[in-house]
Amino acid sequence: IEVQEFDLVVFGASGDLAHRKLLPALYHRDADGQMPENARIICSARRDYTDDDYCDWARTALQEHVKDLEEDHLARFLKRLRYVKIDVATAQGFEDLKKVLDEREDVIRGFYLAVGPDLFGTICENLGRVGAVNDHARVVMEKPIGKDGASAKALNDTVGAVFKEEQIFRIDHYLGKETVQNLMALRFANALFEPLWNAAHIDHVQITVAESLGVGGRAGYYDTAGALRDMVQNHILQLLCLVAMEPPESMNADSVRDEKLKVLKALSPIGNHNLDKLTVRGQYRAGASAGGAVPGYLEELGNDESRTETFVALKAEIANWRWSGVPFYLRTGKRLAQRVSEIVVQFRPIPHSIFGTEAGKITANRLIIRLQPDEGVQMQIMIKDPGPGGMRLRQVPLDMSFADAFKVRNPDAYERLIMDVIRGNQTLFMRRDEVDAAWSWIDPILAAWATSKETPKGYTAGTWGPSASIALVERDGRTWSEDD
Ligand code: BG6
Repeated sequence: IEVQEFDLVVFGASGDLAHRKLLPALYHRDADGQMPENARIICSARRDYTDDDYCDWARTALQEHVKDLEEDHLARFLKRLRYVKIDVATAQGFEDLKKVLDEREDVIRGFYLAVGPDLFGTICENLGRVGAVNDHARVVMEKPIGKDGASAKALNDTVGAVFKEEQIFRIDHYLGKETVQNLMALRFANALFEPLWNAAHIDHVQITVAESLGVGGRAGYYDTAGALRDMVQNHILQLLCLVAMEPPESMNADSVRDEKLKVLKALSPIGNHNLDKLTVRGQYRAGASAGGAVPGYLEELGNDESRTETFVALKAEIANWRWSGVPFYLRTGKRLAQRVSEIVVQFRPIPHSIFGTEAGKITANRLIIRLQPDEGVQMQIMIKDPGPGGMRLRQVPLDMSFADAFKVRNPDAYERLIMDVIRGNQTLFMRRDEVDAAWSWIDPILAAWATSKETPKGYTAGTWGPSASIALVERDGRTWSEDD
């Protein structure tokens, strides 16, 4: 369905995010017929480009990142692009942008800040200064929103002085992933799961976001962040919220976000007193990935002092009626054995077996939501082994793979999210109080790490992280899903 007429201004339009994600996402939405006839994408960066130079740059980006690029769609898309040179540091160029925007006053006006967070505040202030922020305006911020609670507050205050909360779209691209949205469909469009979705029936939950790549060219940024800030504060906590929240009364943005907020507030604190029992941090050393030798983190960074974690495993607990006593094991890292993101919901064992020992082990049910790659949902159940040999039981998957079930292209998260910005739908965006609550849980962990004598444990690139992370779950008599 077509969205309303809009102008979308992309700051950082010559950067990596625009190149890899934003331009391809916008191209696809246009090619699929979702853009209104006169929609414009106003690209802005510091470089001295003309409209034509920028189009050439954009064409290259699209050729690299879009499969099956179609010439006529490409030509139509490139016509939507305008380029305005803005130097944020000297505040030059904002008046030029305002002039271009004033050509069409009554359309939705999106400002996408695809730049480093240190520029968010200045850009918003300048947009306010030149009068570019009207009632149709909205701003999109990429993470990181701050590096701790205090800096997030300062940033949100600055942006909030120019834009109202209903105009601020804090992107967490994990919320735009098809399978993540599907988690809500699974929980709330089926009668099957919700009655079992609590401590009486669920033993524990595992959330893994494992990457096989290292930090590569992003070492500069990454070293100031680390895995806890880069992945847990946002993506992983958002996934945890969607698994754990109470049913919202509707898909309305505030209903969903109110429920997520309650989960974040109910997280049991981790700090000096329980840090060693509940957290493991790691840093990758040289090893092998996809068969080739790869350097360690410190070599990539060119600094052997760094204590930044490239891996983290946590045992989180949600202190409320539904989840009391159910651990949520969270883990993420770079240079792990495989790229895999999944949520594993481990049900409790059956209370009593009517089968004899010849039936074999009865494994408790498990629901696996695979976010990537090979998106899908799998339910592991017990069945009888076929044949006349008596009652022998076996675990089999009831499997639903998106690629097999739907022969359509799986849209990238950004496609959905950018269009939601134009539609003004904030359901899949983080509200300010969610960001604050997430930092309130993360800050004491960071503080405790900072004073801890322990440094991140080394792990060989291409493995599943430090052995201490295995011990974290084994201490509780459990195993990570890939070890079963
Ligand atoms: C980003 C992190 O938010 O998410 C990156 O900053 C990480 O470090 C990326 O690689 C992972 O996203 P995806 O969609 O590839 O799983």
